Amino acid sequence: MKEIARVRKLAKISIADVAHVGPGTAAGEWFRRYWLVVGTTKELRDIPLGLKVLGEDLVLFRDLNGQMGLIGLHCPHRGTSLEYGDIEERGIRCPYHAWLFDVAGNCLEQPGEPRDSQYYKKVKHLSYPVRELGGLIFAYMGPDQKNPPPLPRYSPLIENGGQKYIELTRYYDYNWFNFIENGVDPVHFSVLHRSDPSDGTWRSWFFNRHDIPHFDAVETAYGVKVISRKPGPTAETEYVDEKSVALPSIIQIGDLEFTHFHKPRSALAEGSHIEHIMFVTPNDDDHFMLFTADSYTGLESDFFPKLADTRPPPLKEEKKEYDHRKHMPFRGSVRHEDIVTQGTQGRIDERNERLAASDRGVILLRKRILNAMKAVQKGALPQGVLTKERAQKIVKIDSFTGIRAKGVF
Ligand code: FES
Ligand SMILES: [Fe+2]
Repeated sequence: MKEIARVRKLAKISIADVAHVGPGTAAGEWFRRYWLVVGTTKELRDIPLGLKVLGEDLVLFRDLNGQMGLIGLHCPHRGTSLEYGDIEERGIRCPYHAWLFDVAGNCLEQPGEPRDSQYYKKVKHLSYPVRELGGLIFAYMGPDQKNPPPLPRYSPLIENGGQKYIELTRYYDYNWFNFIENGVDPVHFSVLHRSDPSDGTWRSWFFNRHDIPHFDAVETAYGVKVISRKPGPTAETEYVDEKSVALPSIIQIGDLEFTHFHKPRSALAEGSHIEHIMFVTPNDDDHFMLFTADSYTGLESDFFPKLADTRPPPLKEEKKEYDHRKHMPFRGSVRHEDIVTQGTQGRIDERNERLAASDRGVILLRKRILNAMKAVQKGALPQGVLTKERAQKIVKIDSFTGIRAKGVF
């Protein structure tokens, strides 16, 4: 009987399920197999940080001994938010009746109870393991808390002698999957960002709306990448731009140093020296957080402070007095352009679509994610979760931008 119920459940799952991430949902269970970024080292200071992850209300904090904890937001006593708690050496203390919890969710003190009470020992609060890597804080919310999979050593986060930069956390109010799909949709670079050497946000000759580059969508060990190409300076070479999505919800691009080919073509000869990695963590079905880390291994000094100055100034657009559209004006900032288009799509399980040939990257990604969700339903490890044997390997995600031999995948 149980087997029949399980098979029926497997038959029902579709890519529309990726939109729902709460406990017990197909995508929620899938996400809970991975280490997810929940904060940055530089933003976790001396106050607790309330946050929602995969539909669960949590609080992230660092005790005065330097240990980090991610525990349930609401005090198990009578529910007060621990976001207002006091940080102490041994943990976080609820402001209401001073119950004290350590980073593992153990209750250590209940000062209002009778002196000889042992009741505190019986109270165990929700907690998840957390780890820091390269300035980001990862949490594992999966089933095997005592024995989580290895935290992947993502290459941009590993010390490599290069320059590093971590952005402040960004918060968005639409479904996480809209953002991720955008990473394997290269046509939008040429159109939405109005790329044109003399006009538009990127002003790029490569991602150019009058001559959109051909792209291939390719399966990789970590997920999917899209490779856009144009004929190179010689017959044997081509200009290439790779953008990748790694499971569960990571995008990497490499072209920041060329600001999308804004530099002279000769500058591309060596290829990119940058990895710009973005980790998406759903708060719930309609909100997500974005954590961005950069690693640069080129010769330029002070690369990141200088980068901002090399970008063309944002275009200024006037808002007409009779224009009541919420996001106007929106052109001129790549990030704003993305928010407007992704944020107005609606969730994948609610919208109607007419997919086209140019959606092949999106289609391939959906297939891979659906397979990963199905693997979890069957009790298998989904793509992107490391086995112990591969724990020390550096996880490298393709994001080459530059000139290379023709036809390389
Ligand atoms: S509600 Fe937290 S100690 Fe009472
Ligand atoms: Fe974009």
